[in-house]
Amino acid sequence: MQIYLAPLQGLTDWIFRESFTQHIATFDKTFTPFVRVQNGDFFRPSQCNDLLPEHNHFQKPVPQFLGNDTESFKRFENLCLENNYTEANINMGCPYPMVTGRKMGAGILSYPEIISELLKGIFADTHLRISIKCRLGMENPTELEQLIPIFNDFPLSEIIIHPRIGKQQYKGNVNAEAFVKFAEQIKHPIFYNGDIFTAEDAERIQKLTPIAGIMIGRGVLQNPFLLDEIRNKEISVEEKRTKLRNFHLGIIENCKQKYSGDGHFMKRLEEMWSYHAENFINGKKVLKQIKKCRTLAEYEEIVFRALNEL
Ligand SMILES: Cc1cc2nc3c(=O)[nH]c(=O)nc-3n(C[C@H](O)[C@H](O)[C@H](O)COP(=O)(O)O)c2cc1C
Repeated sequence: MQIYLAPLQGLTDWIFRESFTQHIATFDKTFTPFVRVQNGDFFRPSQCNDLLPEHNHFQKPVPQFLGNDTESFKRFENLCLENNYTEANINMGCPYPMVTGRKMGAGILSYPEIISELLKGIFADTHLRISIKCRLGMENPTELEQLIPIFNDFPLSEIIIHPRIGKQQYKGNVNAEAFVKFAEQIKHPIFYNGDIFTAEDAERIQKLTPIAGIMIGRGVLQNPFLLDEIRNKEISVEEKRTKLRNFHLGIIENCKQKYSGDGHFMKRLEEMWSYHAENFINGKKVLKQIKKCRTLAEYEEIVFRALNEL
C-alpha cells in the first residue's frame, strides 16, 4: 500500500518536507500545498516558490493546482514543465469560503459542467499526468456520484478522496460508507485521505475496500513516526530522539533561509506545534511555552528540552 503526504498550506511546505524526508522517513509521494491560479494568473506568486527545484532536493513533490479554468491551468502547467515536473494534482477539496465562493476547491464539486469543461480543456493537450484530490461534495455527499461518470471519462492517474463535504470543513466524522460506495464506481486508482492518526486507523481503512493507498496529513504532524509504525518498522526511543532533533534543526535551518527575523517564523512554528505537541507527554505545557517565546534561541531551548523528556 502506497502512503502519501497530504498537502497542508503553511505546514507541509518545502520547509517541512525537506527536513522530514532527510531525517525521518520517505513517503511514496508528497504534494505541494495549492497554487491558486485565476483569470490566467497566479493569485499569490509566492505560492509558486514551493515547487522550485532549489527547495526540493530530497524528493520532488507533485505540484497542486487550485483553479477552475483551462487558461489558468495552462499557466500552471507551464510553470510545472519549466521545472521538469511530469505530474500535477487538481484541488477539488479546499473548504474555505473565500475559495469555494469562487467555484474552486470543494466549491467546484457542485458544478459538474465546470469540471467537465476544465478536464476537457486540460486533456486536450496536457503533457502532465493529472490526478484529483476531492471531497464527497460541497453541500451534500451525493454530489460526487454525479461526477463519477465525468471522472471515468478522462485518463486521470489517480483520485484521492477525503470523505467529508466542503460545508463540514474539518469538523464532524468522515463518511466511510459513502467513500466505499463511490470508490467502487471509480475506475481510477483510489487513495483514502482523512483522520488517519494511528497504524490501526490505516489498517481499518485498508479493510474497507480495495484502494491503491492512503494519504496522511495531520496524523504525521502529530506523530512523525506514524509512517514507520504503519510500515511495522521498530524504532527505539533513543533513535526517535536523534531523528526528531535533526528534523527540528532542519526545520529551523530552512526557516532561516525563508524568513528574515525570528518574529516571522514563530507563528509558523507555533502552528506546527499545535499538532506536534500531542506526541509529547508534557505537550500542553510545551505548546504554551512555544506560544510565549519570541526569539529563536528561546524556541530552540524549549524544543530540545522537550525532546529530552520524550
Ligand atoms: C491547515 C490546513 C491546510 C490545508 N491545505 C491544503 C492544501 O493546500 N491542499 C489540499 O489539497 N488540502 C489541504 N488541506 C487538507 C489536507 O490535505 C487533508 O485533506 C486534510 O487535512 C484531511 O487529512 P488528515 O486528516 O490526514 O489531515 C489542508 C488542511 C489543513 C488543516
